[in-house]
Amino acid sequence: MQLNDAIDAARAVTRRAYAPYSGFRVGAAIVTEGGALYDGCNAENASYGLSICAERGAVMKMVADAPPGDRKIRLVAVVSPNAAPCFPCGACRQVLREFGCEEVVVLDEGGAPLRYPFEEILPHSFGPEAL
Ligand code: THU
Repeated sequence: MQLNDAIDAARAVTRRAYAPYSGFRVGAAIVTEGGALYDGCNAENASYGLSICAERGAVMKMVADAPPGDRKIRLVAVVSPNAAPCFPCGACRQVLREFGCEEVVVLDEGGAPLRYPFEEILPHSFGPEAL
């Protein structure tokens, strides 16, 4: 699974976003250490605060579908037609952190990938090793 596959998957799943309130569509695609790909899109709710981001949707899909030995996140790509770059929100950063995410990839205005080591995205983070 290549970086470009993840970007393509994230871009494609933006079409599945359920965003009737904000109109802001987001797609995310996770690549695991084992090379599997899991996508997700945002899904909003009439009770606005219950809306779920694309990144957390992708993480939940990974948790449900990945073999237990392949829950390590190599990278996550995030794409939105509404914003470039579209960085994961703080809550999603913490959820990605739980599964050892190593890299976050977003697109610049020209569609070129911007790659960030996870430590730069969420420095000095709290994680499961602490417990
Ligand atoms: N959203 C995501 O899905 N991921 C992000 O990285 C930023 C925000 C969603 C949440 C909400 O449905 C909409 O975008 C506007 O905040």
